[in-house]
This record gives sequence, C-alpha cells and structure tokens, in this order.
Amino acid sequence: MTKATARAYPNIALVKYWGKRDSTLMLPLTGSMSMTLDDFPTTTTVERTPEAAADHFELNGEVIEGEPLRRVTKFLDLVREQAGIREFAAVRSKNEVPTAAGLASSASGFAALALAASKAYDLSLDPADVSRLARRGSGSATRSVIPHFAVWRAGDDETSVAEAIDAPDMRMIVVVVNAGNKEISSREAMKRTALTSPFNDAWVSSTEQALESMMSACADNDFTRIGRITETNALRMHATIQACDPPILYLAPTSLAIFNKVRELRESGLEAYATADAGPNVCVIARPEDADAVAAALVEFGSVRTMAPGPGAELLADSEAL
Ligand code: DP6
Repeated sequence: MTKATARAYPNIALVKYWGKRDSTLMLPLTGSMSMTLDDFPTTTTVERTPEAAADHFELNGEVIEGEPLRRVTKFLDLVREQAGIREFAAVRSKNEVPTAAGLASSASGFAALALAASKAYDLSLDPADVSRLARRGSGSATRSVIPHFAVWRAGDDETSVAEAIDAPDMRMIVVVVNAGNKEISSREAMKRTALTSPFNDAWVSSTEQALESMMSACADNDFTRIGRITETNALRMHATIQACDPPILYLAPTSLAIFNKVRELRESGLEAYATADAGPNVCVIARPEDADAVAAALVEFGSVRTMAPGPGAELLADSEAL
C-alpha cells in the first residue's frame, strides 16, 4: 500500500502524564490513565510521493510549514527507518476539534498519523506497536490509539505503550472556559517543571501511587474512588506546575469556580469530579445517568459538551481519503 487513511480521537487523562524521563524516546516519568473521547476526531491520509524532494503537510486544507512540518517529518523519518523505505509523503489532515474547544489535538493527530503512516509504508503493526510509534510524536498520543479507557505504563522504549483497561461507563463534560491559545506549550512547561519545581519528586511518587489506586478502583468498578483520584491528581499536577520558576498558571478564576461548583454538586448528592489539562478548560466526569444534570449545572461557566468513551485509532476506506 502507498496510501492510507486513519482516524483517532482526543483523550483526557484521569491520571496525568506530566514530565519525561527521556525526551528523545519520549518516555514518561510516570504511567498515566485516560478516557478516549467519542468526538472531535483527527482524520489523516498519508500518501507516499516517490517523486517528491520533501514531505508535504496540509491541515484543514491549508499548507503547513515551519515547526509543525518539521515535527511531522521527524515522525515520518522514524516510520521510514522502520520500513526501510526512503520515499517522502504527502500528509493531509482534518482536525474536527473546534479551535475554540481548546482541546489539544496532538494526541488524536499523532495517533491518526502513526496508524496511517505505518500502513502507507507497509509496516504491519498491532495496536501496541502503533501506540509505541504514536508516543514518539506526542506522549498523550500513546493513549489515543486505544478505545474507551487506556493505561500507559512508563516502561522503556519497548514496553512504554498504552493498553485497554476496563472502567465503569462514564461521561466527560468538557467545559470550554477560554477560547484563547495557551501561552506555554505542555512540552515546554513539562521541561520547566522538571528543572525548577521543588514539588516535582512528590508529583512523580504521588502519581505512581495514584495510578496503582486507579487500576484497583477500575477493577472494582468504583466510580467514587476513580473520581477522587482523578480530581486530586489533577490539582496536584497544577500545584506542581504553579511552583515552577518562573511560575505557570494554567487555571483561570473560572476554572477554579468550576472545581468549587463540582464540589458543591457532590455535597448536594450529584456525584461529579473535575480535571484540567495544560489550560483553563475543565473536564468533569459523571455517571451516565447524572451527565445531563451535571452539564446543566455547568453551562453558566462556558460552553459545555458531553462525551462518552470513544473509539481507538481506526483505518478508514479509500473513499474517505483526504
Ligand atoms: C496535561 O502529550 O501534549 O494533557 O508529549 O510533549 O507532546 P508531549 O506533551 P502532551 O502532554 C499532555 C499533558 C496533559 C496530561 C495528559 O494528557 O496526560
């Protein structure tokens, strides 16, 4: 095959990945666990172009150059090396995350690229291999290869892959607080955290424990414990990031107001738990039967969107090629 198309979805971590042990191999400091979403996918077609002198990258119909193209080429170099094929490629991507949603697209983007590129370059990879490859593009992409719920073990180059884990059905209510671009990327902020945050060691050891507790809470189908671990781990991550020098503050006043509101909802008997990534938006988990009530209680803070556990990276028919 010389052309293939794949689709993948974003994921939101319930136990966060924050920090790298090896930034070339993209090995994380700790394991993490996430829910893959069922909307806002990235679709990517990779087509080998034997005549071309460089890779070509289009996103939402626009030709992309500079750093994003360099990242795609660096990633395709890995695929070319594994495949023993030197040909360049044209990569056409469509990202359905509304720009205003503020959800990072590197997870869905590199998961879709890993699957499409591996097929276009004739590599026969199983999902663990695709996850390992996606990791080299962006850490969180490791988990977007896997449907529903994924655990990504820290591991080494061979074992640092995501796999499926059973968890109780739940909904993720995404509250978009701020449409603006974040000031500092996760990648930069992670480096600064490791170098300057005095809380980094505590972050690493508490996250290792959180992941073990999360695994047993999932095995017990215990939504309450899953929720508590999720919220605590997210706020610990933000505390660690805030302690950088110079400090980084991703949470906005409205983000904190949502965390408070979610606590009030729990006190009034509606069980929900909040988490937030490297930006001001807040994602709230709830049992499926409570999701509408939780979403209704959060509309005052921004636009809300309720999502269910979604599919892993999947190949599409040629008719869907971009
Ligand atoms: C806060 O995967 O975007 O969303 O590996 O440098 O590409 P790189 O970073 P990225 O970081 C995600 C950080 C997070 C937490 C998480 O998804 O686990």
